Amino acid sequence: METLSTKPRQAVFHPLKVAKKEQLNKNTFMLEFEIPAHLKSNFQFEAGQYVTVKYQAGDTVFQNDYSMTSAPFEQKITLGIKISSDDSSANVLFNDYKVGDVLEVSEPRGRFTITSKPHEFRTIIGFAGGIGITPLLSHFKNILHSEPRTRLFLFYGNRRTEEIAFKKDLDELTEKYSERLQVYYFFSRENTPDHLFQGRLDEKKLHLIINQILHLDDTDEESTIWDAVDEVLICGKGEMIRSLANACYNNGIPKKNIHFELFETFNEDIYPVEKEFPLVQNIAVDFKLFNRDYHSTLPNNKARLLQQLLAQGFPVPYSCKSGICGICECKLVEGDVELLENEYLTEKEESAGKILACMSVVLSEKVKVNFDVA
Ligand code: FES
Repeated sequence: METLSTKPRQAVFHPLKVAKKEQLNKNTFMLEFEIPAHLKSNFQFEAGQYVTVKYQAGDTVFQNDYSMTSAPFEQKITLGIKISSDDSSANVLFNDYKVGDVLEVSEPRGRFTITSKPHEFRTIIGFAGGIGITPLLSHFKNILHSEPRTRLFLFYGNRRTEEIAFKKDLDELTEKYSERLQVYYFFSRENTPDHLFQGRLDEKKLHLIINQILHLDDTDEESTIWDAVDEVLICGKGEMIRSLANACYNNGIPKKNIHFELFETFNEDIYPVEKEFPLVQNIAVDFKLFNRDYHSTLPNNKARLLQQLLAQGFPVPYSCKSGICGICECKLVEGDVELLENEYLTEKEESAGKILACMSVVLSEKVKVNFDVA
């Protein structure tokens, strides 16, 4: 993942030495960091999380988020990084930093995590696009290691064969866990002998996958593998996530079991929002951000809170605008809002008054929120 970190106040940084750097293919490299004994507890993490890395080129300081490919039991921080184009800031990281150099690395964060269930028989499906494989690799290693009864299927899309990242790791896993792991590769710009594996991972492809790969469950002749799916993990670009998440949902997987991590800013909703609300006009909004108090008036509640404040030019924090990343998290101090979708806040956080501004429709004539207490 390479995204601009827009809420730096949540990150706690420590200097870490680069222990290993390796180019994996033309567009991808891995970085591993040495964790000194006194920082071990600061760098405990869950599968699927990410760290923010700060680095410099001349006067420019870059700050990007990268998912870990390592699993917690490996006790190391390994990142997979895409060098996307000549002007990618990741090029600086790749070209200017070598083993032994020190970088500022944040403590691990992120909610693309699932609860471990070592005693259950589970079926988990993963969809990855390009460098979106990184958190899935962490999840898959972790689940295979700690859940001896769980079976996994990975559907991994790339443009061409040579762009597959972490192929060696995936091959090792499929060899070691051949009874419980199946990996299928899809290519959008390469011909494949079987048409099933040609094209993007999207809703249409999911139907073919269900009908042609997940249709027969050897462990239960009465049902298909798809019927047995417990959790779905999706990581990649917004359009891919939207298409697959909706297709999974429309094919019977509850939203709470569909987990996704966006690897780009995506300005549209992942799931369609179809609710209607009573019209409220001339809404007075007070909000606190970075210790400053702001005031504004919204003409009405036809658009959501974050989107209206952004349209008015306020520097409110955001990334996905879809209730997924949590960057717009704030506390409702006064007034009433309806939270449309929420893939981020826990029940406890919601009952403590936390909301996601990007998914909040204001239902009162006055509303007061605080972005600083998130
Ligand atoms: S901007 Fe991502 S949850 Fe609101």
